[in-house]
Amino acid sequence: MHKKNRVCVISILIFPLAAVILVSGIAAASSETEALDTGAASMQLEGGTLGDVPFPHRLHQENINECSSCHELFPRESGAIRAQQKAGALKKQKVMNDQCIKCHLARSSAGKSAGPTKCGTCHQR
Ligand code: HEC
Ligand code: HEC
Ligand code: HEC
Repeated sequence: MHKKNRVCVISILIFPLAAVILVSGIAAASSETEALDTGAASMQLEGGTLGDVPFPHRLHQENINECSSCHELFPRESGAIRAQQKAGALKKQKVMNDQCIKCHLARSSAGKSAGPTKCGTCHQR
């Protein structure tokens, strides 16, 4: 084999290898972002005797950048609010008052888009 040909063969072998490494690197990076579990698009929260509260989860994720603005009080799990309340780690109506209503009031008085603040608009029987 001529020297020139040998260089050619080596580069033919190395190039696909480099390409595979590059592509798998990109795949790993994008699967990290895809791995964020955003949960259900909408859900029904337990609201006691006044009735349950339909909650548009995705709409909030689109409007509020920080997951922690809600999930600092309870983990990202279905039924987490009730579970924390039963364990004594969270007072009843704390999420409602300190997060839901607080944010809606603050935003509407700042002239921004906001959700309901009246009992019967959230609680539905
Ligand atoms: C405005 C409040 C709010 C924001 C912001 C929010 N969540 Fe949630 N999330 C909730 C509530 C309420 C529940 C239901 C808890 C329960 O059932 O007790 C929930 C539940 C979940 C669940 C479990 C439910 C399921 O369907 O699997 C996941 C996962 C989740 N959230 C992920 C996220 C991520 C990721 C973000 C940020 C991109 C986010 N959440 C932002 C309020 C919020
Ligand atoms: C923005 C929506 C929203 C509004 C407005 C709202 N609530 Fe709630 N409420 C909730 C959510 C969500 C829960 C469950 C989470 C919690 O306990 O913090 C809840 C829980 C409750 C509970 C506890 C039920 C239980 O058995 O655990 C009571 C009582 C209650 N609300 C009464 C009211 C009253 C009275 C008003 C009007 C003054 C009102 N709520 C307005 C969303 C709302
Ligand atoms: C950090 C701010 C923030 C928190 C916390 C928050 N919301 Fe909202 N909410 C919004 C904003 C902003 C909108 C208006 C979105 C839009 O229509 O553009 C909204 C809208 C809504 C709507 C009306 C949706 C519609 O289709 O018009 C409901 C119902 C609602 N929120 C319930 C809740 C409940 C229940 C909680 C607590 C578990 C909560 N929100 C917590 C900011 C918040």
